[in-house]
Amino acid sequence: MSDLHGAYAKHEDPNTVGITFPEHMNLLQKAFPFATGEFSGVMRELMLAGKIISSKVRRAGLVHEMGLTGRVNVQGEQVQFLDEFSNETIVRMLGTSGHVCVMSSEENADPIPVAPGYPCGKYVVTIDPLDGSTNIDVNVSTGTIFSVHERVTASGPGTLEDVLQPGSTQVAAGYIIYGSSTMMVYAARDCGVYGFTLDPTIGEFLLSHPNIKTPEHSTVYSANEGNTSSWSPEDRELVRALRDGEGPGGTPLTARYVGSLVSDFHRNLLRGGIYFYPATQAKPNGKLRLLSECNPLAFVAEQAGGMATNGAERILDIVPKELHQRVPLYIGSRAEVQYVVDAFRRR
Ligand code: AHG
Ligand code: MN
Ligand code: MN
Repeated sequence: MSDLHGAYAKHEDPNTVGITFPEHMNLLQKAFPFATGEFSGVMRELMLAGKIISSKVRRAGLVHEMGLTGRVNVQGEQVQFLDEFSNETIVRMLGTSGHVCVMSSEENADPIPVAPGYPCGKYVVTIDPLDGSTNIDVNVSTGTIFSVHERVTASGPGTLEDVLQPGSTQVAAGYIIYGSSTMMVYAARDCGVYGFTLDPTIGEFLLSHPNIKTPEHSTVYSANEGNTSSWSPEDRELVRALRDGEGPGGTPLTARYVGSLVSDFHRNLLRGGIYFYPATQAKPNGKLRLLSECNPLAFVAEQAGGMATNGAERILDIVPKELHQRVPLYIGSRAEVQYVVDAFRRR
């Protein structure tokens, strides 16, 4: 680890910006034996898909590719054109790469096999192809979330068993955010969190945020307070106390809620913040999906020094029972998430 961060130290000098993802991977491969060429392949395919989606998202308003397809996904949500495009792009890239044995997506009811006739690899990838898609038509940031596991079955096509693994066994996870710039943020096991910004002039992601650490304390809280009346009285009190400065920092938190989890999470990761999506009366397990949203972001949060819980249990310890399982989520800076955990213990 120290070797790796030593190698980066000299690149933190602003005059030496420009580490590409392949160079970063070469450093990782030297420092970490698990980072095989096959893992680099998965990351390369995800980033290529991210570039294509980014370009599509940025031109969507010009070429009338926004809006609804008229279809409803397995979650009962309206599917947008860009949801479908993003899903198909990633599934096509990974499904022909030879690096994965099975995939799963928020948009598909069942695990997705590799493309017919293509070889199976050792990785399993789960995606939220376009998170925050209700924000597309109004020019608010969206993102692609990904989670990478090693397969648990021995060989051949991957199965549901490969997909239903707890977050603690992820080998890597992260997101690509389509914001004022396009950024890829990822964490690999025991390697820390790195942010790469897409330089549109050369079409490459360049290291811009080496070894991201999230602030210990929050300055921001992010929750859909429109749901307040359908939260439990305890969740209502939790948000109120943090907002009003009764939390561990002792100062009031300011509200920021975009409504794209990736965007809210990314801001909080860099600035310090806590994001809540508690249970509601209509959604007793909350809204967010364990495999495609909560696990990957919890992995990034923890590797950056933060925490993620459903209140009672560390997100990464939850053993999934279903592909599209939902869980309440409290994620972000360590001090405030620990405050939530302590409050739950007293309930
Ligand atoms: P998706 O667009 O992938 O379906 O995810 C939407 C999620 C998440 O991005 C966001 O934080 C949350 O839904 C917002 O929900 P509310 O509108 O209920 O606040
Ligand atoms: Mn989502
Ligand atoms: Mn989505």
